[in-house]
Amino acid sequence: MILRKYYVTCLSFGFLAAVSICLPVQLPAAPPAQPINYVGSQACQQCHEKEYRAFTSHAKKSSSYQSIVRLRKELTEEEIRGCYVCHTTGYGKPGGFVSEQSTPHLKNAGCEVCHGPGAVHVTSQASADINGHPTEQDCEACHISERVRAFRYKPLIRGGAH
Ligand code: HEC
Ligand code: HEC
Ligand code: HEC
Ligand code: HEC
Repeated sequence: MILRKYYVTCLSFGFLAAVSICLPVQLPAAPPAQPINYVGSQACQQCHEKEYRAFTSHAKKSSSYQSIVRLRKELTEEEIRGCYVCHTTGYGKPGGFVSEQSTPHLKNAGCEVCHGPGAVHVTSQASADINGHPTEQDCEACHISERVRAFRYKPLIRGGAH
């Protein structure tokens, strides 16, 4: 409601008690009540069983943390953190992957790497609260040119999904 964005401030001049000037002042935009967090693929299962099952049985993303584990011994801590951006969900973003210990539900690249953070949608169940139509741009954060080996955008917009 528009009224909430304003409050009225009055400046009274003590020596001229009869004169006061009132001005509407815009309040700074309220921060979102909570950041839209990541919940992990399993939280989607109860309502999207078909997509969940197809994803976890066919998409390599659903076990992409394992690709880091396989090579971990040869990598420095810093190099390993470099893998997280693409091989986990939401690394470096609010409510995203932090570590295997503290955020095990986000350790693989899950539904939310394409559909965006789902915390609001799992409660509201509204389409408006989820990215229902990922585009190539949503893939490009991770499928950069050196890594496009098994990837053809156009025919495979649903590739790596379900
Ligand atoms: C409690 C049930 C529930 C959970 C949990 C849930 N969804 Fe949904 N989802 C729905 C419903 C209901 C719709 C259909 C909404 C409509 O048609 O208006 C929907 C629609 C969608 C759509 C299609 C949106 C569109 O624009 O057509 C996508 C994509 C989606 N969900 C992804 C997810 C993902 C990813 C998760 C997990 C992070 C998830 N959902 C968790 C109930 C749920
Ligand atoms: C957060 C990063 C990320 C995003 C965003 C992303 N991918 Fe991926 N994708 C990966 C990773 C990582 C793998 C490889 C997993 C492995 O083998 O460990 C992969 C694998 C794939 C594969 C290989 C085949 C398979 O079975 O999984 C296809 C195809 C693919 N992705 C398509 C897409 C498409 C299409 C989009 C956009 C709609 C997309 N990806 C968005 C990270 C991402
Ligand atoms: C910029 C995003 C990105 C980063 C960073 C990244 N990967 Fe990947 N990785 C991908 C994508 C995308 C694929 C799938 C490539 C394909 O099949 O086209 C993949 C595939 C793989 C595979 C499977 C290769 C195969 O032949 O099946 C392994 C293993 C892997 N990555 C390990 C790592 C490790 C370890 C790191 C960190 C040192 C890392 N990746 C960093 C995006 C990334
Ligand atoms: C690699 C990207 C990617 C991943 C990962 C992914 N999806 Fe999707 N999803 C898509 C695309 C692309 C569409 C089709 C959108 C359109 O029609 O424009 C889609 C559509 C959907 C829809 C709408 C119904 C349909 O089939 O068109 C639902 C629901 C959905 N996804 C849920 C999920 C759930 C749950 C997961 C995880 C288990 C998941 N998605 C993982 C890319 C992805």
